[in-house]
Amino acid sequence: MKNYDSIRHVRGESHFIDDIPYLDGTLYGYVYYSPIAHGKILQLDFSEALNSPGVKTVLSAKDIPGQNQIGGIIQDENLFADEHIHFIGHPIAMVVADTYLHAHDASKKIKSVFEKLPPILDPRVAAFKNELIIPPRKFELGNVDSVWNDCDYIIEGRADSGGQEHLYLETQGSLAMPTEYGGVKIFSATQAPTAVQRTIANVLGIPMHKIEVDVQRLGGGFGGKEDQATAWACMASLAAFKLKTPVKLILNRQDDIRLTGKRHPYSSDYKIGLTKDGKILGYEATFYQNAGAAADLSPAILDRTLFHCTNTYFIPNLRAIGLSCRTNIAPNTAFRGFGGPQGMFVIESAIYKAAHVMGIDPAEIQKINLLKEGDEFPFGQKTFNCNAVKCYDELNERYPFEKIYQEIDGFNSKNNLVKKGAAVIPICFGISFTTTFLNQASALVHIYTDGSVNISTAAVEMGQGVNAKMKRIAARTLSIDESRIKVESTNTSRVSNTSPTAASKGTDLNGFAVIDACNILNERLRKVAAQEFNEEDASKISFKNEKVFYEGEPTTLTFSELVKKTYMKRVSLTAQAHHSTPEIHFDTKTNKGNPFAYHVYGTAIIQVTLDCLRGIYEFDSVKVVHDFGETFHEVIDLGQAEGGIVQGIGWMTCEELKWDRDGKLLTDALSTYKIPDIHAVPKEMKIHFLENSPNDFGPLRSKAIGEPPFMYGIGAYFALANAMKAFKPNLEIDFVAPLTPEKVLLTLYNK
Ligand code: MTE
Ligand code: HPA
Ligand code: MOS
Repeated sequence: MKNYDSIRHVRGESHFIDDIPYLDGTLYGYVYYSPIAHGKILQLDFSEALNSPGVKTVLSAKDIPGQNQIGGIIQDENLFADEHIHFIGHPIAMVVADTYLHAHDASKKIKSVFEKLPPILDPRVAAFKNELIIPPRKFELGNVDSVWNDCDYIIEGRADSGGQEHLYLETQGSLAMPTEYGGVKIFSATQAPTAVQRTIANVLGIPMHKIEVDVQRLGGGFGGKEDQATAWACMASLAAFKLKTPVKLILNRQDDIRLTGKRHPYSSDYKIGLTKDGKILGYEATFYQNAGAAADLSPAILDRTLFHCTNTYFIPNLRAIGLSCRTNIAPNTAFRGFGGPQGMFVIESAIYKAAHVMGIDPAEIQKINLLKEGDEFPFGQKTFNCNAVKCYDELNERYPFEKIYQEIDGFNSKNNLVKKGAAVIPICFGISFTTTFLNQASALVHIYTDGSVNISTAAVEMGQGVNAKMKRIAARTLSIDESRIKVESTNTSRVSNTSPTAASKGTDLNGFAVIDACNILNERLRKVAAQEFNEEDASKISFKNEKVFYEGEPTTLTFSELVKKTYMKRVSLTAQAHHSTPEIHFDTKTNKGNPFAYHVYGTAIIQVTLDCLRGIYEFDSVKVVHDFGETFHEVIDLGQAEGGIVQGIGWMTCEELKWDRDGKLLTDALSTYKIPDIHAVPKEMKIHFLENSPNDFGPLRSKAIGEPPFMYGIGAYFALANAMKAFKPNLEIDFVAPLTPEKVLLTLYNK
């Protein structure tokens, strides 16, 4: 079994934006951006650039016929800077030329004069100066102020997690071409085709029906193309619209890293109170989110931090405050987990610190506080089919933690310069867009007269395998072979008003829509088949393995014959269906409601070996019991789990973003920014599917898989911390991630 795209990928046959066959007259764009982090544009002179070889035009804010505005949640972001500059990389203009190199060369001839202002880079400083994107957000449960007296232990601390560059293999880009009636057709590497369509319409000042957005697939998104693919699509469209010729705009790797936002770095304070047996009675946390220079998706991401700030534990008394802090770096954005991992790192840090003060294993605190059936989350939702304890216990049975610790202690007592460590990490992740209205999707299914089937949905394929899943869902629902089915590109003219493929909801939302559309077709096919057997009651007809059954008995009629008969009877072989997640709601004033369709649970144990002379380390194993619901595509689900874990380990360990004091990103290339490579993958990955977990709220009883496994990576930090403590028992862990080899070494030998 393999993902059906993989053969084409390996042969280089798959089309990404830059592979779309060349159209005569195509021009190339290059973005000219701010070299300063904060200030004002005093002068801009394009004349020399305009006279450079091959240059057709230079476009800036004054060339925009509609609104110079691309902000999604809050209208606070210009496509091209007006007079104000908010970060290094802030787009100011776009040079359009006959070749990429001509455009790039000409951009160096743009003359600009700036007035520099001091940048704010630290979210705590931004909060102090009241530079907030939105008013503070607060989630509360019980009465945290009155609970501290009942606690045997109260521990306070700080925990910081770094940002993360998406490093999708395909950089941001789009290809726009003018259409009749003054419209634009655009191929965009976006997770959010409708957002691109809406924003282009707004920038060009024309109705949405004149814009067609088409997405074949992305070379990775990871959230980085949920909001931040839009700017480049707008720029290419603006140029195509003005010049009446196709325009391609693709960021080179370094510009992509400089110009686009990343996972939000967070700095947080917490206070946790426990009884002497480790029961958590109260938890207070303040999260300083480094939002960057504009809102982007930061408010929604901040909310998810609060939704997940108790991870998978029941904490009866809580106050969590979130501050979205405006700073002078590129606007930060969605990244796998969407703020959840940042919230979970803080509670895990609090538990780790508390356990060490109390002289017990953090896993003991984790275990006794795990969510149980009917427990209430801080936002009012109660758990159901809660698998937190099941996953934890099953992992502990398969790989007894005590035994692992003993083996590690044995190893550590015999080795002075090499130390091992392990950490347990249970997770819980809520499935649904926390922005309730986004939980909708639709599907369009055609059956052609030869019995081949074509499905279009709102889902964007970005390597996560959603197309293979749509195919399987359609095949199962129509009772036909998968080879009959082709999944179309995602296109706003075929499927409208789409939500981004995000929040791990791609398969759930679009899969249900596919099921509904296929069932409409099944109903029609059943009626035609019933007529064939002179039967009035169409419910006596059923389908299985491409065959028509009558009263449960196979007939000689096949799927493709029935399709032909249906066509000859002039019955439609096309169906459209819309699906929206039932019964979810959330009140953003009281911050209470039922925002999630369900939760995904799991527990992992991560083991690491640390070379204490060099600070370098290797992850020996990750062992997981994960709640996949009832999987209907094991290979894809496993791939998502493995990929997510490695990406999560990268965030906690080797991936480190650094800015200088002027707000310049120093780690803007692969030579300075280290992502996990094949050698960084844990040597052993054992991922077990939790048994007997059917999910009524997922298609074919499955559960969403895209984001949750990322959060097992958090365990990497604590496994490493334990290995470091084995070398230097009195070491104070600072709970600042990532723990790069450099940081580990400096910490081990810091007097
Ligand atoms: N897997 C691959 N290979 N590439 C990606 O870009 N994005 C992740 C996850 N897995 C991603 C991925 C993110 S951030 C999300 S929200 C989900 O896939 C989106 O797809 P789904 O909703 O179909 O799971
Ligand atoms: N996840 C991902 N993207 C989103 C969400 C979410 O919860 N809400 C709005 N956009
Ligand atoms: Mo995923 S961060 O919701 O695109």
